[in-house]
Parts: sequence; C-alpha cells; structure tokens
Amino acid sequence: MTAHPHADDPTPVPESDATGIEPQTRAVMTPSAPPALEIREPVAIVAGEDLYKRYGHGPGAVHALNGVSLAIAPGSFTAIMGPSGSGKSTLMHLLAGLDTPSSGEVWIGPTRLGDLGEADRTRLRRSRIGFVFQTFNLLGMLTAEQNITLPLRIAGRPVDREWLDWLLIATGIADKRRARPAELSGGEQQRVALARALMGKPAIVFADEPTGNLDSVNTDTILTMLRRAVGDLGQTIVIVTHDPQAAARADRIVFLEDGRIIRET
Ligand SMILES: Nc1ncnc2c1ncn2[C@@H]1O[C@H](COP(=O)(O)OP(=O)(O)OP(=O)(O)O)[C@@H](O)[C@H]1O
Ligand SMILES: [Mg+2]
Repeated sequence: MTAHPHADDPTPVPESDATGIEPQTRAVMTPSAPPALEIREPVAIVAGEDLYKRYGHGPGAVHALNGVSLAIAPGSFTAIMGPSGSGKSTLMHLLAGLDTPSSGEVWIGPTRLGDLGEADRTRLRRSRIGFVFQTFNLLGMLTAEQNITLPLRIAGRPVDREWLDWLLIATGIADKRRARPAELSGGEQQRVALARALMGKPAIVFADEPTGNLDSVNTDTILTMLRRAVGDLGQTIVIVTHDPQAAARADRIVFLEDGRIIRET
C-alpha cells in the first residue's frame, strides 16, 4: 500500500485557506483541473501501514505486531483470524485509534491518526467508529438500552428511536432493554455491546469476537444482521473471530500469526 490510502470520505481535514472551500471542491471548480475521479488512488476507509506494537521494554518485551499492512475497503466485511496471542485485538485497537502503534501509521480515510492530538483522535473515533470490545465494557449501573444510547448522549447527538428499536429486535434483546448487565447472560451482554456500536451508524464497526459467546442460532442472527449492515447500510465491518461459520460470511479473511499477516482469502 502506498502512503495515501485516500477514501472518498467526508472526514473533516483541517485546511486553512482563504476561500473556505475544501480542496477537492476547489479542484472541481478550477477549469484546468483534471477530470474528477479518474485518477484516484486505491480507496480505503481505514488502513494500517507497517504497524508494529511492542508492549514493555528490554528482554521481557512482547512484540504483539511485527509489520502489519492492511487496507479496508468501504462497504466490506472483513474477518481477522489467528491463534490466541497472535495480535488480533491489538491490531483492531490500533486501526480503531484506541491505542497507538510503536511505529507505522493508521489512516481513517484521508486522515493520518498520528497527525492528530488525543482530543481530535477521540472526536474522530466517536463520530466515525463503533467498537465492540472482547470484554463488552458495559456500564453496570445502566440498563441495556441506556448502555446502547450512552455514546450518542455523550456526544450530544439525538437518539433515533426507530433505529434503536430495530437494533434491539435485530439483536434479539428487545425484551431485555431494561435489564442491567448483571442480569444478562454473556451472549446477551455481547449483543448489547454490538447494538451500542451500531447505534450511532458509524462508518466503520470493529467487533472483537462478536459471536464468541453465542450459540449457533444467535451467531447466525448476528451475522445476518452484520451482513445487512454492510449490504443495506453500506457500513464497513471488521470482526475478529475464531469461528469458521462466522468467517465464512465475510468478504475477506485475514490470518494473523505472531503479529504478522500470513495469508488472506
Ligand atoms: N496491555 C498489554 N500489555 C502487555 N502485553 C500485552 C498487552 N495486550 C496484549 N499483550 C500481548 O500481546 C500479544 C497479542 O495480544 P492480543 O490481545 O492482540 O492477542 P489476540 O490475538 O487478540 O488473542 P486472543 O485470541 O486470545 O484474544 C499477546 O502476547 C498478549 O499477551
Ligand atoms: Mg483478542
């Protein structure tokens, strides 16, 4: 992958300019500009370039990622597979801007995360990315529904009740909307976490083992929903999974081992 995985992406990139018109628009307005769209570079909504991640220092250091490059196309469904400890969660956290690489670059559309300060990175993540953690990270004092709508409320965005109801039904937790996490099974908590990630209609959703606690019927429900999110809503989804049934529903499977991509199908 080259250094500029530009997507046709609405992410605001700060540009100081007297016209106040963004560069792409200016290019189209300028008579001498080349025809739009014909000379675009490969499109990626998120990309990692030569990513390394080391935890700790010295002889005890863990090299969790050892040079991973990966470009995710918009509107695609990618599964990441690999043995325990191969770096799957680490890679997802870096691509989602939840953690920073020891070296290498992460791009969200045209924005290089390394160029952003902590506050801008958080803002970009909140507006563009949904994340389902391997450990769910639900807040115990809130009900399922309150957990799902919390990120929107934090961001001061309105809650689309129709979309909320659809998500509760699609994930099969409508009858649990007022239950707190302690009153939910592991699989139900997982589905609340997934609904929360989708609630803000983010451009890209990362889900770390979204079907890891589910039986095969619920796995199928969730995978069908994720496929619909990609097919009907144009969402981009990246999941980590150990489950071949889940991986088989993806457009692309990326295999990690010892912090490297060893193959793709
Ligand atoms: N915060 C951390 N501090 C130190 N080492 C870490 C940390 N997080 C992960 N590691 C190590 O980095 C390596 C990769 O971990 P990671 O969580 O990415 O694996 P994984 O592929 O998601 O595994 P699993 O399938 O078990 O979830 C492992 O050796 C792990 O012990
Ligand atoms: Mg993991």
